[in-house]
Amino acid sequence: MKIKTTLTTLCCAVLACTAFSAANAATIGVSMPTQSLQRWNQDGHNLKAQLEAAGHKVELLYAGDNDIPTQVSQIENMISGDVDVLVVAPIDGGALTTALQGAIDKAIPVVSYDRLIMNSKAISYYATFDNYKVGQIQGNFIVDQLKLKDDATTPKNIELFTGSIDDNNVNFFFGGAMDILQPYLDSGKLVCKSGQTKKEQVATLNWSTEEAQKRMENLISSVGYGPDGVKLDVVLSSNDSVANGVTNALTASGYNADNFPLLTGQDCDKPSVKNIKRGLQTMSVFKDTRVLADQVVKMVNAIVDNKEVPVNDTKTYNNGTGVIPSYLCSPIVVTKDNLKEVLIDSGYYTEKEVK
Ligand code: GAL
Repeated sequence: MKIKTTLTTLCCAVLACTAFSAANAATIGVSMPTQSLQRWNQDGHNLKAQLEAAGHKVELLYAGDNDIPTQVSQIENMISGDVDVLVVAPIDGGALTTALQGAIDKAIPVVSYDRLIMNSKAISYYATFDNYKVGQIQGNFIVDQLKLKDDATTPKNIELFTGSIDDNNVNFFFGGAMDILQPYLDSGKLVCKSGQTKKEQVATLNWSTEEAQKRMENLISSVGYGPDGVKLDVVLSSNDSVANGVTNALTASGYNADNFPLLTGQDCDKPSVKNIKRGLQTMSVFKDTRVLADQVVKMVNAIVDNKEVPVNDTKTYNNGTGVIPSYLCSPIVVTKDNLKEVLIDSGYYTEKEVK
């Protein structure tokens, strides 16, 4: 064990790797929701690489394309296969209570990854980005860009889109944005012509691009939005996969870079980064998967070494069984102006990947 630890540390130093080695190497089961969205592929890949660099054995499984029964059985198998720690990004945050009973029975610690697993006492820790802040960043971006604070500002038309209702993060993304935007809807500086402003009305099952596109197409025909029709000034979208659906519907109905509404997003997925460069999305909130993976490795190492686990929030995330000690990483705004610096100069993407 000593030799292995030393070698890993040396190797990390040579590679300028940020992961720390654990004194006790362990087997870590990692369950991810889908391979159909870039961010989760990136998450899984980064996490596996960094856990392995820290000396652990990793079993990484994807639940097909957001298939809940597959995720349940993969987790059950990892538990019966005696993993030492589980790291899980749930599809439906409320669907894993029974599957995780086995983790409680075997005292396997579970780290909830990015999304909180609800109604389960099995969850020891939660590692994520500051999800409320993500929503606030999007809301404030809209307020600033549309100059809503200025008295002279004329009313602006907005439509709202958020993500999957079974994802606890949606409460924070949408809640954070609406805490900023609601006063402007109340005062009439923002007008939502469809009247659809409730979370349930603006949700997008599985964060699906196709579902978002269909809803935007319906809004275009029911309200009459269009380059030559009713002016659409802004669309709040909680993430990039949803924003891509909005962009598809808007471009199909004649919008282009010259008349495109302000459109928010999150994740800096490649299609959205390309759209930002082309003027077909205005911003995205970047959540560097390398930073989250790095944090989870530190937490896992502390768990297996029986040390104090690093957390920075012990108030915000109650999963129905109590508050889960959490570590919240910081999100960053990306626009055309800082895209190169944040995403390319940092080595997250090559120039070619987002051309
Ligand atoms: C959320 C996650 C976002 C986004 C979305 C769709 O839970 O925090 O970053 O990727 O899921 O997968």
